[in-house]
Amino acid sequence: MSALIVDGKALALSLEKELRERVETLKEKGVSPHLAVVIAGDDPASHVYVRNKQRACERCSILSSRIDLPSNTTLEDILEVVAELNADSSVHGILVQSPAPEGVDELVIASAISPKKDVDGFHPANLGKLVQGDTSGLLPCTPSGVLMMLEKKSTGLSGAKAVVLGRSRIVGMPMALMLAQRGVDATVTIAHSRTEDAVALCREADIVVAAIGRPHTVKADWIKPGAFVVDVGISRTGDGGLAGDVDPGVEEVAGWLTPVPGGVGPMTIAMLMANTVSAAESL
Ligand code: GUN
Repeated sequence: MSALIVDGKALALSLEKELRERVETLKEKGVSPHLAVVIAGDDPASHVYVRNKQRACERCSILSSRIDLPSNTTLEDILEVVAELNADSSVHGILVQSPAPEGVDELVIASAISPKKDVDGFHPANLGKLVQGDTSGLLPCTPSGVLMMLEKKSTGLSGAKAVVLGRSRIVGMPMALMLAQRGVDATVTIAHSRTEDAVALCREADIVVAAIGRPHTVKADWIKPGAFVVDVGISRTGDGGLAGDVDPGVEEVAGWLTPVPGGVGPMTIAMLMANTVSAAESL
């Protein structure tokens, strides 16, 4: 058996097409959706990610501005920029690219962004709404993208057994909450570095979401035949390539598999675009 490869890029492009129509409607009403991205320092990977986000804005006719700050930027400097963007009524979405410079507390930044402009979905008010089952908030982009891939491609999530590998604030935790929420109704286990026998948990799972950041960790013999395997990992290899958390051998066992690159990555960016349009619509 060979897994169906879930084409995240194609799905993202079809989403962007729908978003362009919503942007047109907004523009007819005199609103130009606008995303502001703040990047501090010269981390090459972050610069590539930000460029990709700007290109997606262009494709969706979303205005983008970029605020470049030096690598010795302090928390106070970033908070000052965030306060200006919060007060600027022409800006609908604010994203401060991670990782922030050393010593800068990203949780403080996440809490400083207006929840209405929090297109990353990291503000405690937005994450709190998710816990409460209130769908009116902005949701984190990577888990939203993963959920959309699962909903579009699989036959049903209700009652499915899902294992989320990793408990990060950005992916693992919100992913688990979204899978367990009413209407999606998966039965979710979160596995992490202290979990005993995560492999046995995975072997029982209909859905495995790997978000651990260690290349090729999830092996073929961890996976139940036919399971839906989502690879959120993206690590740089020595030869300049990219590797996911899932070993290539999994393709022979899984029913569906999201590739790296071309799977979760483009969907994350599409959900960022969707959050920006939603923020502009809910003015
Ligand atoms: N760095 C890598 N991914 C992300 C993301 O989704 N949001 C932000 N703000 N920074 C990132």
